[in-house]
Amino acid sequence: LASTEVDISKIEPGAIVTIKWRGNPVFIRHRTPKEIKEAQDTPLSDLIDPATDQSRVQKPEWLIVLGVCTHLGCVPLGHEGPYDGWLCPCHGSQYDVSGRVRHGPAPKNLLVPEPIVFLTDTKVKIG
Ligand code: FES
Repeated sequence: LASTEVDISKIEPGAIVTIKWRGNPVFIRHRTPKEIKEAQDTPLSDLIDPATDQSRVQKPEWLIVLGVCTHLGCVPLGHEGPYDGWLCPCHGSQYDVSGRVRHGPAPKNLLVPEPIVFLTDTKVKIG
């Protein structure tokens, strides 16, 4: 199936851009230093689906996740909810700045699409 190349040069720190990939929304979030620290400092024991932030990103400033709630597939809203990650409008699942689920009913973290390849500092290939 098709891969897609995205120019990320215009995505400001703090911003989230949504692209389409294989029929699904994909969130590309340019994280700020504060968001990166928050994501890295979260103890695994606080997580429903434990995963280090480092295992979910290749470059700390760029988080790329599928925009599909792992409960029943709604599209979560960015910069919403108590963890300032995403909030699902359907049944209230909360995700953090690493896209990890912090409050259900969603059982799993937002999926990281694979593969992700940074072709240059401003261009990323997904899929
Ligand atoms: Fe997201 Fe139910 S689909 S919480």
